[in-house]
Amino acid sequence: MTDVRAGDRARWAELAELIDDARRRYYVDDSPTLSDAEYDEAYSELVALEQRFPELTSMDSPTQSVGGQASEQFAPVEHLQRMLSLDNAFSADDVEAWAARVEKDLGSLPALLCELKVDGLAVDIVFENGRLRSMATRGDGRVGEDVTANSTLIPAIPQQLTGGTKAHPIPPLVEVRGEVYLPLAEFDALNAEQREMGLAEFANPRNAGAGSLRQRIDRRREDVAAARTPAAQARAEADLERALARIGRLRLVVHGVGEWQGHEPATQSEAYAALAGWGLPVSDRARVVEGLAAAREFIDFYGEHRHDVEHEIDGAVLKVDELALQGRLGSTSRAPRWAIAYKYPPEVVRTRLLDIRVGVGRTGRVTPFAVMQPIKVAGSTVEMATLHNASEVVRKGVLIGDIVFLRKAGDVIPEVVGPVLEARTGDERAFVMPTHCPECGTELAPEKEGDADIRCPNQRSCPAQLRERLFHLGSRGALDIEGLGYQAAVALLADGLVVDEGGLFALTSDDLQRSEFFTKAVKGERVLNANATKLLEQLQVATSRPLWRVLVALSIRHVGPTAAQSLARELRDLDVIASTPPEQLAAVEGVGGIIADSISEWFAVDWHREIVEQWRAAGVSLADEEVDEGPRPLEGMTFVITGTLPTLSRDQATEAVQKAGGKVSGSVSKKTSYVVVGENPGSKAEKAEALGVTILDEAGLLALLP
Ligand code: IVH
Repeated sequence: MTDVRAGDRARWAELAELIDDARRRYYVDDSPTLSDAEYDEAYSELVALEQRFPELTSMDSPTQSVGGQASEQFAPVEHLQRMLSLDNAFSADDVEAWAARVEKDLGSLPALLCELKVDGLAVDIVFENGRLRSMATRGDGRVGEDVTANSTLIPAIPQQLTGGTKAHPIPPLVEVRGEVYLPLAEFDALNAEQREMGLAEFANPRNAGAGSLRQRIDRRREDVAAARTPAAQARAEADLERALARIGRLRLVVHGVGEWQGHEPATQSEAYAALAGWGLPVSDRARVVEGLAAAREFIDFYGEHRHDVEHEIDGAVLKVDELALQGRLGSTSRAPRWAIAYKYPPEVVRTRLLDIRVGVGRTGRVTPFAVMQPIKVAGSTVEMATLHNASEVVRKGVLIGDIVFLRKAGDVIPEVVGPVLEARTGDERAFVMPTHCPECGTELAPEKEGDADIRCPNQRSCPAQLRERLFHLGSRGALDIEGLGYQAAVALLADGLVVDEGGLFALTSDDLQRSEFFTKAVKGERVLNANATKLLEQLQVATSRPLWRVLVALSIRHVGPTAAQSLARELRDLDVIASTPPEQLAAVEGVGGIIADSISEWFAVDWHREIVEQWRAAGVSLADEEVDEGPRPLEGMTFVITGTLPTLSRDQATEAVQKAGGKVSGSVSKKTSYVVVGENPGSKAEKAEALGVTILDEAGLLALLP
């Protein structure tokens, strides 16, 4: 296992503080201390550290909260009854020893309630006369944090219990315990959104969920109110919206009760039935069984099927079902004697390291990666894992041919942990970092002395860098050229149709005719196929995309969508950007010294300027038009677009809304004005319905436009 060194921990704390401070300045004071690139760099370093050492990822980490201060305090609340923890069993023997003790104390082994151990965040919810009075995190078991305000934002948590019956009347006071969790599907969707926005992904559902629950929504609202410029307000609003959307993804499963006034149930399973009847979410996987063999079967079943459950589980819990017997067994100061948690072993598997190869990225960075005998770990099949850089390979001590331990860091990113030393035969060999680029043969070198990364300096014509740049250029965050996927990029270069991105927009059907990828055989003749038609059509469309997309497409180091949008907004013209001195560029909001220098350096290179000239000659628009002063009936409204619309593409719909003064957001919240739904909508449509947000189809949207 990788050990966290003191140096890593200190660096983590330093980065976390830097980021928290920068966020406060940015969101609250609207006086950024870091440029976007510097912020992104610090943030990526923090994410990388946490991926390497998941134990560093605390709930207070800036990676686990949206914006604003990460370690904001909540008011303390004292639980009515102490929230105990659970004792753990790590083997069948441990479970047997627990059962033997229960049997000895009670004379026989009573019925056991078998449940899943949900990997989430424990909460305590008090209902008074059926009305939710408070919700608190577990805290130290006696005093937790007051998250009542957030409970109202989680649709899965009823604010009012209903459906009391004669057998199960709603008690005057009941304290319900459960686990708040982020379902795996919601975790994936959240991370997909993070990716789409170019943000770091969350390490695991537990952290993402805990961070979601512990957001200070009131502070986000204050940020909106306190913002002093429209830009700061827009950022604060977007953040508030995302924070609300994140909370709305959470679910609850009830797994116990504390204080219960009035008629008490006889068993825990009966308590669940009563709670379920009043509208509380109870797991439908819990089973009451007789005898230890049946309990073991339950444990084994979910050991096999732990990835088939809709949320993460880290074990199974056995509880004595009858409440009177629970009382007789009692508790230690830490945990009840009437329950035990069986923890499933962490998923580390062994597989053979077949090879270590190196990849060359868009900016020339050369990264070694492990190629392994494919193996299933934590729910998916893995055959490759990054090794980051040459010193990381040395630090892990792995040799090609080794059997290695493989795990998923934070259960998401596959990571080679280290070699199984006992399995060595002597036939293994050490990895040698190449001195020359595997794709173009150019000698590799670090960009500056002391860098851990080495790069291929042949940016102009290294096939790997060209391929990655071409592919990037067509991606959704850049020029969004549908026909320009990875394979198309490979074919364009391999068949010599372009020598670099400069020639892209001058491509003709005659050019594509020369490539097998872009043609098909019809009656013995090769004619253009659908790939070709789509590419030509989409290249044409891309010539009139907004300037910021062109900027991103140029692959200027550090220039991502945020910086590009600021530059386009302020300067409007690529020639103006090219000729603006770096000091002036750095003054543009969201652009700091690093980005400004990088832009100036980029335009100082002859072949870079040639690309721009070739694009200009091919009709690519390099300037944004003057702002359209047309009517803005959608001013102040926020739209979410989901599913495939019958005639408009997602981009066209977005641009139409923006042109009319509206905003388009990626997630639905109570503040969303309209959700525009097309075919095959995702969970956003359901969410809109749940929140009572008005749903439109494309025709409805068109009717709102000027
Ligand atoms: S019973 C006194 N049941 O695991 C009984 N806890 O490691 C205490 N947990 O703090 C809780 N699933 O947050 C119980 N089915 C389940 C559970 C569960 C998850 C959590 C709970 C507890 C922690 C102890």
